Amino acid sequence: MNDSTSGAEVADDVAARIAALGELVAYHNRRYHELDDPEIADGDYDLLVRELRQLESEHPELATVESPSQAVGGAPSALFAPVVHSVPMMSLDNAMTQEELAAWGQRLARGLPDETVSYVCELKIDGVAMSIRYEGGRYVRAATRGDGRVGEDVTANVATIDAVPDRLVGPVIPDVVEVRGEVYLPVASFDRMNERAAAEGARLFVNPRNAAAGSLRQKDPSITAQRDLSFWTYQLGDVVGGPPLPSHSAALAFLGGLGFPVNPELALFDSIDAVAGHCRHWEAHRHDLDYEIDGVVVKLDDVEQRARLGSTSRAPRWAIAFKFPPEERTTTLRDIQVSIGRTGRATPFAVLEPVFVGGSTVGLATLHNEDQVRLKDVRPGDTVIVRKAGDVIPEVVGPVLSMRPEGSAPWTFPTTCSCPLASTLVRLEGEADTRCIEPACPYQRDQRVGYFASRGAMDIEGLGERTVVQLTSSGLVADPADLYALTQEQVLGLEGFAAISADKLLAAIDGSRQRPLPRLLTALGIKHLGPAAAQALAASFGTLDAVKDAPADVLAATPGVGPVIARSIAMWFEQEPNRAFVEKLRAASVDFGVALPEPEPTSDVLAGRSVVVTGTLAGYTREEAMAEIVARGGTSPGGVSARTYALVAGDGPGASKVKKAESVGVPILDEPAFDTLLETGQLPSP
Ligand code: IVH
Repeated sequence: MNDSTSGAEVADDVAARIAALGELVAYHNRRYHELDDPEIADGDYDLLVRELRQLESEHPELATVESPSQAVGGAPSALFAPVVHSVPMMSLDNAMTQEELAAWGQRLARGLPDETVSYVCELKIDGVAMSIRYEGGRYVRAATRGDGRVGEDVTANVATIDAVPDRLVGPVIPDVVEVRGEVYLPVASFDRMNERAAAEGARLFVNPRNAAAGSLRQKDPSITAQRDLSFWTYQLGDVVGGPPLPSHSAALAFLGGLGFPVNPELALFDSIDAVAGHCRHWEAHRHDLDYEIDGVVVKLDDVEQRARLGSTSRAPRWAIAFKFPPEERTTTLRDIQVSIGRTGRATPFAVLEPVFVGGSTVGLATLHNEDQVRLKDVRPGDTVIVRKAGDVIPEVVGPVLSMRPEGSAPWTFPTTCSCPLASTLVRLEGEADTRCIEPACPYQRDQRVGYFASRGAMDIEGLGERTVVQLTSSGLVADPADLYALTQEQVLGLEGFAAISADKLLAAIDGSRQRPLPRLLTALGIKHLGPAAAQALAASFGTLDAVKDAPADVLAATPGVGPVIARSIAMWFEQEPNRAFVEKLRAASVDFGVALPEPEPTSDVLAGRSVVVTGTLAGYTREEAMAEIVARGGTSPGGVSARTYALVAGDGPGASKVKKAESVGVPILDEPAFDTLLETGQLPSP
């Protein structure tokens, strides 16, 4: 905006923006609350509401009571009977940052000067708000929030939820009690639901909240009953004839006593700093739970203090929702491309309009394989929901169908690679992956070189993707072993390299010759052979040659190396180009490991024989004598029988054992005869 812009023009712009935002917010509110089919992720919706409220607070003359920024939810749908809430179901104001939380704390302190305050922190469950009414201790009605005043009657559906009691218990049961809480779907149940949907080729649910909302909105309660929904209570609504409850914590304890599920992750604090620490804790640990949360709700504990603070038209002043940064956002899918891995696997991935989600900007997201793309039916040009939760790699959840551009067609997997050789891509019957079957594919080669140099393999610093492509496209490097033949002159010929950087790269390559065997094994890029199996093989075989020469069944006997990995390794070493590659590494003086000492040959001269020991021997304790027998394949039980091979009798032998041996004809050996037995397996001649 330039300096000459007049005040009136500014106001016009703002009014227009407020009107546009108002329409957008109202529209998305309806899609979320009434249609259960949101077009934008919660995070994007929150941003729109924020902007609208911000403008309205800066320009109060433009704010109206009808503004959707004041709305609590959506209008009830015609599908379910309306229920007027006897106590309105309010919404909560949000704090998106620690500063906003602190500012709320200050407002609270100003409203209650010089008073001590106690905050109750609860998890903000990401589900569907529900009001459930009991009369005479019996379940009578369940209603959604709706617009806060009128909700939808979902009594039959909520009655199928095990966690919702049909009868209350306890010494004092109020005549009427209305509880508020959140119906939610555990993450594991959501995953199972989507696995089933995928197997049936049905549309996937976007997230547990959406699946819970959809499950509640069933005309047929037997469908709801199959959905494994659950419930947490966090608030009382209308109560007639209950005990006095001076604090929120007392109310929660009372709810628990009546038989309601109250979330155990509840904490009381007396400073906003401590509250902030608690919020940070849950932000870091939100995925430790088996249900989804999207924040922490902070509530003033004292009921009388609450009453003095009061509420605005939509939310109480005595509570705030500290919201975690969103893990889902909507953005545009610009394109679907295919990347080729080092083993030729062709993986489709989404090229996105970059979006800030889950703590970082996401521009690319994997789509895994052809079936996943088909199942999600995402198409270039679509508005899509992108999810990035915790350390998990970003994923495209699905398209927003109502925003699909006209004339778009389902994406089809390309049949050729985009590499200069236009290699053929094939998907074998029964396999999930599509593969590039051209061994000379330059993309595969680049991936192999990059993988060889990567941190988990030979760890060659400074050999990133860009340098790899420079080296391969200039013809200097055709396989990773060529790295060891590079000269300073050659590297200097590459764009962006000067003497110092070239020497640094060459030194890093040289240093990698001495990497321990597990790294070298990993660096070969054999399918299925990861760092853990490489470690196990190195410990058991010592050298690359020992691994190379071992048959698959011997490799498979290594702990941590199963038959699949073993077969893959054996097949890899059988192929001539791979053998040549190994020899090239050897010629380049790459360390192949150190041969293990020959193991002590073990004897099995007593295999299947049972030798009993009795009395004291001079050269062995009883345990040592038994261990020597077992080490040679024998057993050493405590008693003599007709099947006993020999009884070894030292000083003071057990009389019953000797007697038994004599009676069944078992030879009795002294210590020198025992020594001979251990050495040869032979009994002294009678
Ligand atoms: S208290 C007047 N406590 O978050 C206070 N709400 O963004 C009413 N929610 O409408 C709500 N967990 O659907 C409260 N522990 C919790 C909550 C919680 C989730 C939901 C609820 C509410 C929305 C506000």
